[in-house]
Amino acid sequence: MSYQKEVQEKLHLIQNKQAATILAIESSCDETAAAVVQNGRELVSSLLFSQIDLHKAYGGVVPEIASRSHVEKIGLITKQALQEAQMDLSQIDAIAVTAGPGLIGCLLVGLSYAKGLSLARRLPLVPVHHIRGHICANLIAHPDLQAPFLCLVVSGGHSHLVAVEDDMSMRVLGRTVDDAAGEAFDKAARALGLPYPGGPELEKLAQNGDKEAFRFPSAFNDDKDHLNFSFSGLKTSIVNQMHNAAQKNEPLNKADLAASFQARLIQILTDKALLACQQYGYQTLALAGGVASNQSLRKHMQDKAETAGLRFVCPPKELCTDNAAMIGSAAYAQLLKGQIADLSLNGRASWRIEDAI
Ligand code: KG4
Ligand code: ZN
Repeated sequence: MSYQKEVQEKLHLIQNKQAATILAIESSCDETAAAVVQNGRELVSSLLFSQIDLHKAYGGVVPEIASRSHVEKIGLITKQALQEAQMDLSQIDAIAVTAGPGLIGCLLVGLSYAKGLSLARRLPLVPVHHIRGHICANLIAHPDLQAPFLCLVVSGGHSHLVAVEDDMSMRVLGRTVDDAAGEAFDKAARALGLPYPGGPELEKLAQNGDKEAFRFPSAFNDDKDHLNFSFSGLKTSIVNQMHNAAQKNEPLNKADLAASFQARLIQILTDKALLACQQYGYQTLALAGGVASNQSLRKHMQDKAETAGLRFVCPPKELCTDNAAMIGSAAYAQLLKGQIADLSLNGRASWRIEDAI
């Protein structure tokens, strides 16, 4: 039987049973990850290799080094994810893979590997949008969570307010007009002389600082007329405050600066997320993406959301930063809708959430 025919038959079985054990692969940036997820909600195993040590010396992700490392690790990580799940490929119903957005050389490694598995085992291949994945990490963490809900996704490349509808279709209601929240954290950390990856380092430094010590510009962030945010001014302000202090030969407390920066960024994100819930009538606010592992952000947003009478959900830290479990979760709804790819599937460095199948 042809590949296509066998895959279609397996897809129909999944749709009839409304059940699937999915092997998911993620390689869009600097983590090589594989996971086994059942029915979009149940995490069976999740493994990853973090490339942080490889990129540390360069102060950021070097795409060519990242792609090569994915090539080296992907086979091993996938095998380990199956081993930890105590499964072999004969027990897998579908292969999910991050198809974008991300570093193209990195995406192609995961895609090629996933296509190989799909072809060899005649399994449906599900192309997953990375940011949809981040949002769906919440479905694993909160098995009772049902759409519709509003999700604030804050990662290294994206800061979006996303409306998640009952059929899991997604719509962006607001976004950053310049830097993503994670990018702002990373740039501010670099200005403060902190090592890569900047976000968690800045969070650590901020723990001992006074968040009222420095003021930051508002740009249009306090504007209640729209749901977009802007973060590039925050980073410029950090650089300027450091220059001013250096020129005047005045001491500058970096912990205070870090704490004030973090508090302002958190306030902007929280205010806009609550405004979106209010404007569109959402009762549940979800948080997702690498920056969602920031403890102060989680706490502040939870407090404010609950005070406003909203349910607040957020994945545990290990499901906030890049992982493959979230990709397996997002793939399940796509499988039920029959949204699979053929072997001509290509990676997409940029890809709007609305355009993702
Ligand atoms: O979602 P993610 O793992 O990868 C992308 O899809 O981009 O997000 C990575 C981003 C980086 O910018 C990193 O600095 C930031 O998330 N990040 C944090 C924290 N942990 C990771 N930012 C602030 N506080 C943290 N604890
Ligand atoms: Zn990510």
